[in-house]
Amino acid sequence: MTRYSRISGTGSYLPPRRVTNAELAADLASRGVETSDQWIVERTGIHARHFAAPDVTSSDLALPAARQAIEAAGIQAGDIDLIVLATSTPDMVFPSAACILQSKLGIAGCPAFDVQAVCSGFVYALTVADAMIRTGAARKALVVGAEVFSRILDFSDRTTCVLFGDGAGAVVLEASDTPGILASDLHADGRHVGILCVPGTVSGGRVLGDPLLKMDGQAVFKLAVGVLEDAARATLAKAGKSAADIDWLIPHQANIRIMQGTARRLKLPMDKVIVTVNEHGNTSAASIPLALDASVRSGKVKKGDTLMLEGVGGGFTWGAVLLDF
Ligand code: ACO
Repeated sequence: MTRYSRISGTGSYLPPRRVTNAELAADLASRGVETSDQWIVERTGIHARHFAAPDVTSSDLALPAARQAIEAAGIQAGDIDLIVLATSTPDMVFPSAACILQSKLGIAGCPAFDVQAVCSGFVYALTVADAMIRTGAARKALVVGAEVFSRILDFSDRTTCVLFGDGAGAVVLEASDTPGILASDLHADGRHVGILCVPGTVSGGRVLGDPLLKMDGQAVFKLAVGVLEDAARATLAKAGKSAADIDWLIPHQANIRIMQGTARRLKLPMDKVIVTVNEHGNTSAASIPLALDASVRSGKVKKGDTLMLEGVGGGFTWGAVLLDF
């Protein structure tokens, strides 16, 4: 019998400190950096984001999200036999945030590793977990996106620091006789490393280069809309479906204008697009599972709905996963 994978539970967590545009603008003004609520809302659709306290790590945010997903799936942490965690802001250089999360969950023995594909991380992680379940390497996978992007923001650069936030989202992906995940499509193009990166690294006990986020916003914008359309169409074709079969598009929450552009190209009305960027900002690998969990808990996304998850980010990386929820 063909083996598939299916999401059996979702969870998410936002750190308690919610920072509105007005609060951020006032804080930036005190550093001589000028921005406004109006500019941020008009260009991005973001009204607020959450920032973690300085001593809170990605695995700290991942833990309550993971516990919620495990509870929603009706299983115990000890039933998990694979952890794949997508992050670009891991707790340490090594070991992986996935191993740290495993220990915080009080479990041991199952494989646990991080996936680094920046804002595409969650669709990469979900695709890897799906493949491992299909081959029989796992039966109950915990797939997480967790980020503390506030740690790598340059608060003297108004073109980037207003865009991002912190948070975590998680799903339990279980082996199933019926799909589940219908198709996925992943890509990368390393020629675009420089348009979105944190170029610094640790070397000889010191930080070498700039450890803060750099972005060519317009270059990212232009690439993002095109590749998101391509990935959605390729995934639909693999599954033998059309855009009309999508109940909900859950794109990476980077910017409302990127989401509107993608929906327009796919001829999907915006009322079929899950939008949380207004309240979360861009939480990179956490944004899709955060949006998924919010829409499940609000009752928008229901069992049996067909969902298109789409990510795009640094690398340049992009991809999509089509699934029956
Ligand atoms: N507040 C006020 N003014 C600002 C701010 C700010 N926060 N940031 C930039 N400006 C100014 C610029 O200095 C510029 O002023 P000038 O005309 O006097 O030179 C003006 O606003 C316009 O700047 P642009 O960069 O042309 O603004 P644009 O309309 O392109 O919007 C943005 C910038 C929002 C970054 C846009 O390019 C974008 O959304 N790009 C996509 C990038 C993205 O979403 N990245 C997320 C990470 S990647 C990912 O997740 C896919």
